[in-house]
Amino acid sequence: MDATSIIDPTKSQLETVIRWLKKEHLNELHGSSGFYCNRSIIRKPYRHSQMKCLMTGHLIVGFAIFSLDTTYSAIDILEIRPAYRGNGYGRLFATQMINFLFSGGAPYVAVECSPITSEPFWRNLGFVDEEKKYSSWENPKLILRPKEDERGQGRFVMRNCLVL
Ligand SMILES: CC(C)(COP(=O)(O)OP(=O)(O)OC[C@H]1O[C@@H](n2cnc3c(N)ncnc32)[C@H](O)[C@@H]1OP(=O)(O)O)[C@@H](O)C(=O)NCCC(=O)NCCS
Repeated sequence: MDATSIIDPTKSQLETVIRWLKKEHLNELHGSSGFYCNRSIIRKPYRHSQMKCLMTGHLIVGFAIFSLDTTYSAIDILEIRPAYRGNGYGRLFATQMINFLFSGGAPYVAVECSPITSEPFWRNLGFVDEEKKYSSWENPKLILRPKEDERGQGRFVMRNCLVL
């Protein structure tokens, strides 16, 4: 895996992400239409600085949409560009997003497994069932809480992965 960084995307980088989602949608890669149908949902958090991109050099390999306040926090969408999947980028990006949310005061991190095929990915990172197990779309809802000694320290240790 090449060296990575996480950035707040520019407008032009947002449009690059939307273009790749459109291409994915048109190609129906991996038997699903992806998040292109959520493009207006993605543009809104972008305007509110609730979007991050994972970069290798100048290339965007993934993006995430998140919610963060002191009573609720979630990774609403996280996607790795199809051609880059299976190389550890997803795990790295998710771990860094979790770290970012906990250092920003998140009490927990919630995810809705949509597509449902992502459920093992989140469970692998330590997420467990939320009290209400399914969303109204019948997707599994999972949650991750910080260990007491890691809360608010800006550092979160995931299984097999340390993020500083
Ligand atoms: C889910 C996703 C982010 C994973 O990214 P990735 O870069 O392929 O994942 P990684 O290479 O970092 O793999 C991390 C681990 O998760 C596992 N994994 C990845 N995708 C998985 C899937 N769909 N089902 C089960 N396990 C999966 C890998 O085997 C790996 O396990 P390991 O650490 O024990 O070896 C990526 O497949 C994706 O963008 N999917 C479409 C969008 C999506 O489902 N987003 C999540 C819901 S918002």
